[in-house]
Amino acid sequence: MNSANAEIMDLVARLAEYQRSYYVDGHSQVSDLEYDRLFDRLLALEAAHPELRRADSPTQRVGSDLDTSLAEREHTIPVLSLDKAYTAFELLQWIEKTEKKGESEVGIVIEEKIDGISIVLYYEDGLLDRAVTRGNGFVGNDVTENVKTIASVPLSIPTTVAVAVRGEIYLPKASFASLNAQMETPYANPRNLAAGTIRRIKSREVAMIPLEIFVYEGFWEGSGETHLEILSQLARWGFPLNKNLAYFHSDKERAAAELQQANITGIGASFEDLASFIEEETGRRGCLAYEIDGLVAKVNSIEARQRLGYTGHHPRWAMAYKFESPQAETVVEGIDVQVGRSGRITPVARLKPVQLAGSTISNVTLHNQDYIAMLELGVGDTVEISRRGDVIPAVERVLEKGEGAAIWQVPTHCPVCHTALVKGGAHTFCPNVHCPAQVRGRIEFFAGKGGMDIENFGPETIATLMELGVLADIDDIYRIDYEAVLGGQPGFGERKIALIRAGVDESKTRPFRTVLVALGIPELGKKGAQVLIEAGLDSMEKLLAVADANDTERLVSIKQIGERSAEVYIASLTDEAMRRRIASLAELGLSMEEARHETGDDQRFAGQVWCVTGSFEHFNPRSKAMDEVEARGGRTTGSVTSKTTHLLAGAGGGSKRARALEHGVTIVDEETFISLLNKEDKNLAKEQGELF
Ligand code: IVH
Repeated sequence: MNSANAEIMDLVARLAEYQRSYYVDGHSQVSDLEYDRLFDRLLALEAAHPELRRADSPTQRVGSDLDTSLAEREHTIPVLSLDKAYTAFELLQWIEKTEKKGESEVGIVIEEKIDGISIVLYYEDGLLDRAVTRGNGFVGNDVTENVKTIASVPLSIPTTVAVAVRGEIYLPKASFASLNAQMETPYANPRNLAAGTIRRIKSREVAMIPLEIFVYEGFWEGSGETHLEILSQLARWGFPLNKNLAYFHSDKERAAAELQQANITGIGASFEDLASFIEEETGRRGCLAYEIDGLVAKVNSIEARQRLGYTGHHPRWAMAYKFESPQAETVVEGIDVQVGRSGRITPVARLKPVQLAGSTISNVTLHNQDYIAMLELGVGDTVEISRRGDVIPAVERVLEKGEGAAIWQVPTHCPVCHTALVKGGAHTFCPNVHCPAQVRGRIEFFAGKGGMDIENFGPETIATLMELGVLADIDDIYRIDYEAVLGGQPGFGERKIALIRAGVDESKTRPFRTVLVALGIPELGKKGAQVLIEAGLDSMEKLLAVADANDTERLVSIKQIGERSAEVYIASLTDEAMRRRIASLAELGLSMEEARHETGDDQRFAGQVWCVTGSFEHFNPRSKAMDEVEARGGRTTGSVTSKTTHLLAGAGGGSKRARALEHGVTIVDEETFISLLNKEDKNLAKEQGELF
């Protein structure tokens, strides 16, 4: 305990000094990585020893200058979004209708719909004055310093008129793939990584991500008569335009000529070519260096645009065609805060129920504050949700802001126990280990499928027992007199109580590895438990000895265990409440060491791979023969492969015998097999087995 206290004091002093020099002197004494490592270590120690947490700990700075907070700026142009068509046919229909409404020949430009982050660049007196996110269309966030790190954004342009330029910031697919491969928590798509990046507080971190931009709309006094002219001027001022563009006009020659005149790279075509162009573009999607999620059709004539005007939300002069994908639109009706068993706070969006890929979705995780800020999400917003890999539904983006919906903020206090929350990396935690939500989470995890898998001991039973005040920690499960406590409770008949009792008793026979996982040590799942046991740490006694000696080295010497996990395991296993729980469970008779294999002594088939075929006199079914092999250290397979060393061939089984001959596999008959099993001298048997 004393050593933990000394380490906490040391970490608090060091981190405070690093913070001061970074925020006050503008100078980093340590790398961000090292800073985060120390910060995480402090958090882990404080979580394990809450009584040692100091009021001046850097982990207590909730809402301090460390928080991301980007200034808000009003837009001076309307930053609208686009109306959508979901089929190429609908888009064609819209173009036809718009053509007619335009009264004169308007011409239609089709651009790719870049799947990135919408941005408006404002230039004043020729200088980039500010870069503002779309926000709710009226007010967005100022991300100028970050946008300046994108090399292709002109910092100045040769004009003094006020210019606003709309564009899309994106991360090329290749950059995304290589960056994401190095991330601890990978992003689902390039857009999310780009959106997260553009909202970072430290612009030098942004500079390390190779973001790019395409611009597609420009606004200034006397900007010109057509969209093509505007694009042309933007290109001359040095803005990057997307070259995959097509211009459609009833007269194909004229379309090509206008493009040439504007000096714009693109395809000039007539309206008859529209359908095939859309089809080709859709097919090209996968080959592009960046993600697109559709196409945008826009009226070329500015005068016609003015005549067509706007609906409340969209311009009538443009239409997006969205490629098909498992996505749906719905409204965020609320954001609930869940407190996990480790105290981690998870915001969950409550959605207006919506059908998506065959099921009804009514809530979806929002992960943490950073994710919400990245989406610029608030209650009341209309969002697009998707099913990534058809499994976990996720909010992809905000389609429309609800009225007055500010970006939602994680509360400052735990909604369950009202303790002040603390920040740790990207997540927020309730530091109170006695928080009822944590207690319940711990018990539910212990009894659940991933833990002891206690039958008939679900969340409702747990809730009832907690309410009755008899279940405050996991060891109580094995102390409660269920008949006495639950008898007479509504919903708990005699039979049900008997089943609960039986489930609890039966769970006492679980092996040590299951008990170890069920304790809920962070990052210690089934795989981790197996690795520890295989590395010789096969009893609680041995594990606690390693933890008490703070022997991180012993743990990291195991190939699959990293330093971070080692520290977390030690912090958790030295935590007082955990120790009390372990001692209590041991006393109650739960397994605290891994049982040895009874068949372990006779390993005469070790290193051999046996395939069994045909029928046998003494081994019926033939799986009995396989069991004999496995019990003596051999492996069995269902077919003869290059790895097979022996074929045990009974009556029949022709094709396997042929394959065995082909591969030079030793073929053994039933009589020989029995003699191999019964050989007194194991080594001789092994040799003989190999000789066949
Ligand atoms: S034009 C008023 N052109 O799509 C019309 N938008 O759902 C302004 N987008 O918020 C938009 N590529 O972020 C336009 N070539 C493109 C685009 C594009 C991507 C995005 C933009 C907009 C969203 C509309």
